[in-house]
Amino acid sequence: MEVLVFDTIEEASAQALTIFKDAVDKGAKVFGLATGSTPEKLYELMVQSDIDFTESTSINLDEYYGLSGDHPQSYHYFMKQRLFDKKPFKTNYLPDGLNENTEEETARYNQILAENPIDLQLLGIGNNGHIGFNEPGADLDGKTQLADLAPSTIEANKRFFDSVEEVPTRAYSMGIASILNSKKILLLAFGESKAEAVKNMIEGPVTSEVPASALQKHENVIVILDKDAASLLS
Ligand code: F6R
Repeated sequence: MEVLVFDTIEEASAQALTIFKDAVDKGAKVFGLATGSTPEKLYELMVQSDIDFTESTSINLDEYYGLSGDHPQSYHYFMKQRLFDKKPFKTNYLPDGLNENTEEETARYNQILAENPIDLQLLGIGNNGHIGFNEPGADLDGKTQLADLAPSTIEANKRFFDSVEEVPTRAYSMGIASILNSKKILLLAFGESKAEAVKNMIEGPVTSEVPASALQKHENVIVILDKDAASLLS
């Protein structure tokens, strides 16, 4: 893993933008995308940039189970508001949170991933070391699944909802194997609350208790941190 540390989220996100730009310039066409607070600045910079995604495909990591695409807390809505409405892509794929047929939905998403191999996958990391919604204990060889959110994830995500009861407890998520299939992976982590997960991901053993540690098995991973998220690295 290549680890880059910056003083501010702004500088870190500018570096992440450069990596996206380089990828587009070199012919990358399929981008795996994430939601959450972490990529917000990067998406803002993408919108302001002259980067052209009109020939590109995006594939999001996850979507809450039970939320429709126009629910303000759905990841469809987040992506439209933050990026897709302002920076058009040729095609945008996200899991369908309303599809109650789990087998059908996971097969559909795995088929999309098989037909569109990801050139550059963007990731955040949970305080508990999750990537996508692959929570501690996840199958490191897993593909798309309907995942149960860990209590700590529900707690962390309640800031986006009116009450903790409204936070969905399950989500469709790409699996670790699907993530590791990407040609290149770019993980961003900002803030002190991520420092322990970052340390475990980079310096700890590869274990399903820290799903992000599986990234040690991939040969093309860049980790971009601010100094708070890097504070526990030796
Ligand atoms: C979001 C996702 C999650 C987040 C993680 C960090 O699509 O897959 O793994 O990246 O929960 O969330 P933030 O960035 O809000 O701290």
